[in-house]
Amino acid sequence: MQNFVMHNPTKIIFGRDTIQQIGSEAAALGKKALLVYGKSSIKNNGIYEQTTSALKNEGIEIIEHAGVKSNPVISHVREGIRLAKTQKVDLIIAVGGGSVIDSAKAISAGATVDHDVWLFFKGKKSIKSKLPLACVLTLAAAGSEMNGGMVVTNEDTLEKFGIGNKLLHPEVSILDPTATFTVPADYTAFGAIDAIAHILEFYFTASDPETPVQDRIMEGLIINIMDSCERVLMQPEDYNARADLMWCATLALNGLTAAGLGRVGFPMHMIEHSLSAIYDVPHGAGLSIVMPGWMTHESTKNPQKFAQFGRRIFNIRKENEVEIAREGIKRLKEWFEKVAAPTSLSAIGVPKEDIDRIAENAMGLAKIWRLQEYNTDRVKDILQLCR
Ligand code: NZQ
Ligand code: ZN
Repeated sequence: MQNFVMHNPTKIIFGRDTIQQIGSEAAALGKKALLVYGKSSIKNNGIYEQTTSALKNEGIEIIEHAGVKSNPVISHVREGIRLAKTQKVDLIIAVGGGSVIDSAKAISAGATVDHDVWLFFKGKKSIKSKLPLACVLTLAAAGSEMNGGMVVTNEDTLEKFGIGNKLLHPEVSILDPTATFTVPADYTAFGAIDAIAHILEFYFTASDPETPVQDRIMEGLIINIMDSCERVLMQPEDYNARADLMWCATLALNGLTAAGLGRVGFPMHMIEHSLSAIYDVPHGAGLSIVMPGWMTHESTKNPQKFAQFGRRIFNIRKENEVEIAREGIKRLKEWFEKVAAPTSLSAIGVPKEDIDRIAENAMGLAKIWRLQEYNTDRVKDILQLCR
C-alpha cells in the first residue's frame, strides 16, 4: 500500500426528503445565489419547485442560469461567469447531474478571476479561489458531487478537458435518491457505466501491484453498481435500488478507491472525452464503447489483474489467466449490451475512417493528464478494437 492523504471536505446529506435542506445549507454559505441547472428535467419532476421554495424560505435571492447541456460547453460557462460577476452573487447552487455540477464548479472558480476560465483547463492558470458551491444531485453517475473534478468542452476547439483541484469540492451536496426516479433508462445505464469506468481506471492502472484492501472495495462497488442498475431498470422508482446506485456512483470517484494505489491514470476517459467532444456522445455511452477495447489491448500486459477481475466479478473458472481475462472482458461487454449501451463505434455511426482523427484529438488531454505513453499509434490500436 502506497502513502496517501485522503481529505474529502464535502458534506453529504443523503436520503429521502432531504432536498429542502438546500435552504439552510445555502443560507450558511451566502445570500445571493446563481442557480445553475440543465434544460427541463427539474421543472418536470418538481425539483425546481422544491429547491427554489426552500431557498426563498431562507431569504436567498436567486439569479437563474439554466440551459446546461449534457457534455457542457465553455461558452455557457462563460455566460454564467459574466452573470455571477455582474449580479455579484456570493454563492453557486447546482441542481442536476455531472454536467450541471461541473459547469457550476467552473463558474465558481471563473467568477473570482479576471482571465478566461478556459486557461484553467489548459493548465495555464491554477485555481486559487472560488465561490462557495452547494449541489442537489439528480443523476447517479459522474461523482462530481463529492470530488474536486470538472469536465467541460471547448466547442470551438473540440477539446473536452477535465481538471482536478481540491478547491473544487462542493461545500455540501444533497443526495436524495427520489430525485433520480425520473432518470430515463438510457442515462441510468450510462451513469452506472461511468461509475464502473471510474473504478476500473484505478483498478487496472494502479502503480502498486499489491492492493488487496482497495481491490475488494472496488470489486464490491462494481458488483453493487451492476446489481442496483438492473433493479432500477426493472423498477425505476425502487427507492433502495436508486439509493444503492447513487451512493456507489459517489463512492466510485470521491478519493476512497484511489487511496493507497500509488499513481493511477484515466486512459479510457482520455479516449472517451474525444468521442464526446467530436460526436457529443453521452459520456457513459462513449465509455461502454472504449472500455472493452482498452481492456483487451491492455490485458496482454497484465493478465493477472484482468483475470482477478474476471474471477471476482463474474466468477469465471478456466484453465489459465489469459482465458479468464478474455472471458471477463467479454462478460462486461455483454453486460453493457444487456443494459442497452452501445459497444462499438459503428453502433453510434462513427466510421472506422474517423479513428485517426479521434486519436489525434486525444493527444491534447494525454499531454495535460501526463499520459504520454499513449501516443496516437497506441490509441489507434485501441480504437481499432472498438470498431
Ligand atoms: O438537462 P436536463 O433536462 O436536466 O436533462 C439531463 C441531461 O439531459 C438529464 N437528467 C439529469 N437528471 C435527471 C435527468 N432527467 C430526468 N430526471 C433526472 N433526475 O440527464 C441528461 C444527462 O445529464 P448529465 O449531467 O450530462 O449526465 P451525467 O451526470 O452523467 O454527467 C455527465 C458529465 O459529467 C462529466 C462527463 O464528462 C459529462 O460531461 N464527468 C465529470 C466528472 C467529475 N466531475 O469528476 C468525472 C466523470 O468521468 C465525467 O467525465
Ligand atoms: Zn466518467
